[in-house]
Amino acid sequence: MSGLSLDRMKTGTWVITGGAGYLGRALALKLRAEKIRVVSLDNFSTSHRNNDSDLIEVDLTDAPLLAQIWKQIPGPIAGVFHFAAKALVGESNAKPAEYFRNNFLAALNTVDLCGADGSRPVFIHSSSCAVYGIPDQLPLTESHRLHPVSPYGASKKIVEEMLAQMAITKKVRVLNLRYFNPVGALSDLDHAEAHEPETHLIPNAIMAALHGTALPVFGGDYGTPDGTCLRDYFHLEDLMEAHQVAAMHLLQQPESYTEYFNIGAGQSTSVLAAIRLVEKAVGKPIRTEVKTRRPGDPPHLEASIAKAARILGWKPSRTLESAIQSQVRWMQQTHA
Ligand SMILES: NC(=O)c1ccc[n+]([C@@H]2O[C@H](COP(=O)([O-])OP(=O)(O)OC[C@H]3O[C@@H](n4cnc5c(N)ncnc54)[C@H](O)[C@@H]3O)[C@@H](O)[C@H]2O)c1
Repeated sequence: MSGLSLDRMKTGTWVITGGAGYLGRALALKLRAEKIRVVSLDNFSTSHRNNDSDLIEVDLTDAPLLAQIWKQIPGPIAGVFHFAAKALVGESNAKPAEYFRNNFLAALNTVDLCGADGSRPVFIHSSSCAVYGIPDQLPLTESHRLHPVSPYGASKKIVEEMLAQMAITKKVRVLNLRYFNPVGALSDLDHAEAHEPETHLIPNAIMAALHGTALPVFGGDYGTPDGTCLRDYFHLEDLMEAHQVAAMHLLQQPESYTEYFNIGAGQSTSVLAAIRLVEKAVGKPIRTEVKTRRPGDPPHLEASIAKAARILGWKPSRTLESAIQSQVRWMQQTHA
């Protein structure tokens, strides 16, 4: 992957929780293509079974069942990429207990098994920019106060806090990657974003362009240049590279290390501007319907990615246009 030597990742098995979902499956496909041993765990609550080898059905909140399955994973376990979570902000407002229970227990039960086979795995947590809430200043740095405004964001913050303590007592090395808005498809591995229901802008805008349906835009009266929210969209392939760099970094750290990194483009695009890019990529106009603002939607989110560049040596290298084009190609081939 972009000349990065992943040899150190080849010495053990990597557990990918949520490995049937959009991002977890993307990483599983990438690592398998690099001949890295992967076991994916998923309960298919927001994804579908597929034909991937080494995909095991388990609900991570079921600690005894998870412990039983963990023993069957061929060791040593080199690390865990923990993607599994419920991840819809709106749904989390309606079902907060479900979000706290699922997201906290899934992470706790998984990290609690780290080291059970005598190895000292590293743990990479899919956190979110939702931990910050409404920004006091932009771009958001990792030291910005954490003040989530949804149960989803709060569940990610609580998991980060739990992991920091577990890192100390269990001697696990932990990275929290706070993703902003990943977009797009893997160029060579037939995988892209396809949530059900889909709440993310880009795939919904592509569907609207392909099918001539109306696209809701939540809020047109923000104090932003065109009145719509600004978000930090970045390419799925860049996110994949961030994970591999993160794993290689963690493998070189001492016991109980914990860190936090923003992962995004480091620049923002308005909802309306992103819709224009989709129109251009599809070659068809999109009919938008401006709706009222969604509660808790920050007007502007933008990552500072200076820390990831400085410490991990990671920087995104792809454009939003290319991310959108990759998703359009995939949807035209698969779902048109
Ligand atoms: N996609 C984004 O824009 C985005 C942005 C920021 C953070 N994240 C985080 O990245 C991670 C992956 O996001 P995604 O877009 O791939 O979501 P997704 O819904 O496609 O994938 C999540 C996967 O986790 C599984 N899962 C959930 N709870 C589980 C449990 N208790 N046991 C086993 N499996 C369980 C689901 O079935 C699903 O396959 C999530 O933690 C999410 O919070 C995503």
